[in-house]
Amino acid sequence: MSAKVILGLESSCDETAAAVVTSDRRVLAHRLAGQEAAHRPYGGVVPEIAARAHVEALIPLVEGALADAGLTLDQIDAVAATAGPGLIGGVMVGLVTGKALAHAAGKPLVAVNHLEGHALSPRLSDPDLDFPYLLLLVSGGHCQLLLVEGVARYRRLATTIDDAAGEAFDKSAKVLGLGFPGGPAVERAAALGRDVVPLPRPLKGSAEPHFSFAGLKSAVVRAHDSGRWSVEDIAASFQAAVVDCLIDRTIRALAHADAATALVVAGGVAANQAVRGSLSALASANGLRFVAPPLWLCTDNAAMIGWAGAERFAAGLTDPLDMPARPRWPL
Ligand code: KG4
Ligand code: ZN
Repeated sequence: MSAKVILGLESSCDETAAAVVTSDRRVLAHRLAGQEAAHRPYGGVVPEIAARAHVEALIPLVEGALADAGLTLDQIDAVAATAGPGLIGGVMVGLVTGKALAHAAGKPLVAVNHLEGHALSPRLSDPDLDFPYLLLLVSGGHCQLLLVEGVARYRRLATTIDDAAGEAFDKSAKVLGLGFPGGPAVERAAALGRDVVPLPRPLKGSAEPHFSFAGLKSAVVRAHDSGRWSVEDIAASFQAAVVDCLIDRTIRALAHADAATALVVAGGVAANQAVRGSLSALASANGLRFVAPPLWLCTDNAAMIGWAGAERFAAGLTDPLDMPARPRWPL
């Protein structure tokens, strides 16, 4: 059977993206338009500005991606679009566009949960990654440990009771005056500082499985207000505390994930080198393979949506054109 070609669309937050991906793991094209400059004056993503920017950017990105792949719309086998969770205006732009393209081409629509895009993305970059695997999904909106048992089969072992890890990076960056987006800015500052500021590790060692980062952010505010520490030292100490919490909770989850053959990380925070390094060490200490997608596949992109679309399509999972956009949609 020949490989299927999937057009993927992503627009759930502040990246507009289109990609062409094949079921045998070739990324024929991926294009992305960030909106950082538009949101920077506000120190965070403004939903209305994001939605308008998606409207303007998406069709040119689709045309560009198809041209890069050397294909026309009627040569693709399915259209995969993020249908949630996310900022509803943006999700609607991408999903409605996906429906229109699918209808025009007479091809099936695959409605993809953005989290499933992150969750399956490591299988795009690593052909040897088989189910089941233990996934730490760390992004701006989510912080979860999932046992990924198969396509559309996700067992959630832990989630955050307040902020997501990426949200903690973004809020701390704002407090420290490091700008937006926060994660990469904190990582750069942390490289110049030392882990010397005493910061809490919320829920570390707790018998319950979940994450918590709100108290850590408040402690960053206090450390900054005290005037005792440099921004770089606070950034380094904050990053070390986040890593510590992520590792502690992952160790706990490993005890409930005997079947897992690999430890996998995905989502925007997976682009952080300290996070990757510590998880890699944890995996080898437990005799597990460690898999992390390349950096461009960690942060939001359409290749992961196209790939999740390819996996769902192969499993016979397509969606009707009245599929609703969903602001909230747990995996
Ligand atoms: O997956 P993603 O692109 O969007 C969501 O689905 O949320 O994740 C974005 C999050 C942001 O909070 C951003 O600050 C964080 O990922 N991030 C990082 C790094 N790069 C992006 N956090 C820490 N270190 C990084 N290098
Ligand atoms: Zn994401």
